Amino acid sequence: MSDLLWQKPGVKVDARIQRFLAGDDVLLDREFFLHDIAASRAHVESLANIGIVTHDESNAIARELEALAGDFRSGQFVLDEKYEDGHSAIEARLTERLGDAGRKVHTGRSRNDQVLVATRLWLKAKLAAVQALCIDVAKVALDRAAQPALALPGYTHLQRAVVSSTAMWFVGFAESFIDNAQRARDTLAWIDANPLGTAAGYGVNLKLDREHTTLALGFARMQISPIYAQLSRGKFELTALDALGTALLDLRRLAWDLSLFTTAEYGFVALPPEYTTGSSIMPNKRNPDVIELMRATYASVAAARTEIEQLLSLPTGYQRDLQFSKGGLVHGFGRGLAALELLPDLLARLQWNESPMRAAIEPSMYATDVAIEAAIAGVPFREAYKQAAASADAAGQGRTPEQSLDARTSPGGAADLRLDELRARLAALESK
Ligand code: ARG
Repeated sequence: MSDLLWQKPGVKVDARIQRFLAGDDVLLDREFFLHDIAASRAHVESLANIGIVTHDESNAIARELEALAGDFRSGQFVLDEKYEDGHSAIEARLTERLGDAGRKVHTGRSRNDQVLVATRLWLKAKLAAVQALCIDVAKVALDRAAQPALALPGYTHLQRAVVSSTAMWFVGFAESFIDNAQRARDTLAWIDANPLGTAAGYGVNLKLDREHTTLALGFARMQISPIYAQLSRGKFELTALDALGTALLDLRRLAWDLSLFTTAEYGFVALPPEYTTGSSIMPNKRNPDVIELMRATYASVAAARTEIEQLLSLPTGYQRDLQFSKGGLVHGFGRGLAALELLPDLLARLQWNESPMRAAIEPSMYATDVAIEAAIAGVPFREAYKQAAASADAAGQGRTPEQSLDARTSPGGAADLRLDELRARLAALESK
């Protein structure tokens, strides 16, 4: 490892303890490195604005930071155990290339606000990706809902309940993913605050140009209180994971439907072949493994959430415990986004098998229609319910799923899906 920034003369470094302190931290910092570089540049510009570095020095540092970002992207610069963390790697490189100008970059900042701002920028990018993917999912689902609908049994308690349709199924997920996109957006706005310039968590004796870093890094506002900036580490990660989790919660239920609907017992859905795998022993099998891993992804996000929540049992101020908030976060978002990325294509290409779906609709599933028709004719509903229950099968004979669906005029029902209203909501979300 390169020299430690905080090394005290006369205290020997114990390699085993250093390994424990570092763990996989420097490798995780690869995720945040480009954001750390961008924030370093803004910080140095703010130092130039208050005369701590010259504008020439600031320009030279900006050039070196750009070169470092390029080398990192191309693989020429490798962030690994040579460095304690990504933060010290940046300072080491600037010092090596620029001497004293590099030694000035850390004026008025701490790794505590450095890691905060890098993860904050990362979270914003990830939430923007969640939002965009949820919008894609909603679009595909709305498109498929507009195609000619097929009758599908509607279940409650996994028991056949009433006639539903493929369009109703798709609209259900369209509307939920519009809300999920909105949630990602709102969460992004909620965390869009700049912690850079709060130093170790108590401010510094310098008039740092925090307005400049806020603007330069594209934050909507400054996170004013240094103590709150530290309190928000982990807390903002949690809320971002919640926004991701809310989409994955719907994905988990969608995947559950597809796991059931692709069994021979249901036979309602054929998955695109790429979404299934074979068995190593049973030559007859095609398994919906991709769907199952999509369903399982929620667990990774919930685990990350739990890990961070446990870590946050802390007093105010920076505590090293917070370092462990990064692993779960990276893992949770990595898996969550990978699962969401597949969803638009899956929804676009899954195929419905009409005849088993129709065969699964039995006459008793019209009983609710029958009872309500009697209620429309003036029979008190509780009485109509009893009559329909007594002759559920007989009363349903001769009815078709289409009749039931065409009469489903309650707003949102099969005869009044309100696709245009949902399209308008989606468009509004996209234009903001
Ligand atoms: N790796 C550390 C973290 O993620 C960076 C901040 C270190 N700060 C400190 N005071 N030791 O929290």
